[in-house]
Amino acid sequence: MPPSDTLSDALTAPAQRVEAYMARYLGTLGLPKNLDEAIRYALLGGGKRLRPILALHSAASVGGSTEDALVAGGAVEMIHAFSLVHDDLPALDNDDLRRGRPTLHKAHGEAMAILAGDALLSLCFQMIADEAPSPEIAGRLTTEVASGTTAMIAGQVYDTLGGFASGLSDEQRLELIHRNKTGALIRASCRAGAIAGTRGAVSEAHLEGITRYAEAIGLMFQIVDDLLDVEQSTEHLGKRASKDEALGKMTYPVVLGIERSRDAVAALLGDAHRALEPLGEASNPLAEIASYMAVRTR
Ligand code: IPE
Ligand code: IPE
Ligand code: MG
Ligand code: MG
Ligand code: MG
Repeated sequence: MPPSDTLSDALTAPAQRVEAYMARYLGTLGLPKNLDEAIRYALLGGGKRLRPILALHSAASVGGSTEDALVAGGAVEMIHAFSLVHDDLPALDNDDLRRGRPTLHKAHGEAMAILAGDALLSLCFQMIADEAPSPEIAGRLTTEVASGTTAMIAGQVYDTLGGFASGLSDEQRLELIHRNKTGALIRASCRAGAIAGTRGAVSEAHLEGITRYAEAIGLMFQIVDDLLDVEQSTEHLGKRASKDEALGKMTYPVVLGIERSRDAVAALLGDAHRALEPLGEASNPLAEIASYMAVRTR
């Protein structure tokens, strides 16, 4: 049976749980109404919720509790939402459509989009401090999520402004962009989920397997995103298609062509599946999620 381009309800179950968790947390804050509305628009308005899904399934795959991993799932989704709000701003990709709706700056204005993005970034770490089961776990989650976020921002700088070290080939630059702007937060999602879900007791061998899996699917995810920009319609994606070429972005289809980009996806999927071998059957859901991520169409 070929892998499905949708995930089963069992695999997506974490999405609703993390959404409810984030909504409850936001309700405790007493933010100004306009800021609260803008944050909810960006954070709770659709999206595949893949990073929280990965966080909770990573927890389960190393014998941890998905309940304990909710804080990790919420934290990485807040960073992801912040990254999309700022990615869409006129100064970056200048997009007007996201998740089938106007981007935040189109709906609530540019000043609010900048500030709501800022708020999501700080709220992520406020939530970790408030909700992690112990200061030690809060510290470990902060390390994972903060380093993933800094790498994401560095990747956005490479993508938007350049600044590469000299002597890198186009392929090396491309991999550097993608591993940073997208791969690093996916790596943080899986590692933070495994750490939070086990309250820090995950073994080194299991965390290593999770990390290698996450690095493979993280790069793969952005290659697929680049392919979808070329191959799918705006209507199907719910975000503007054929934008990358217009913006002169360095993407896998531009540098390697479609066929070699697909080969890279297949090779990375193989890497991801092999990385899970030490985790045994408990990691079957992660294997299935990787297969879906390779063939997704939105
Ligand atoms: C889009 O991410 C931005 C990238 C890092 C490629 P997703 O495709 O996960 O976006 P949503 O959350 O489902 O909208
Ligand atoms: C986004 O990459 C990476 C982020 C850190 C947000 P893209 O710019 O390709 O994402 P889309 O296509 O706008 O979702
Ligand atoms: Mg971008
Ligand atoms: Mg973009
Ligand atoms: Mg894209």
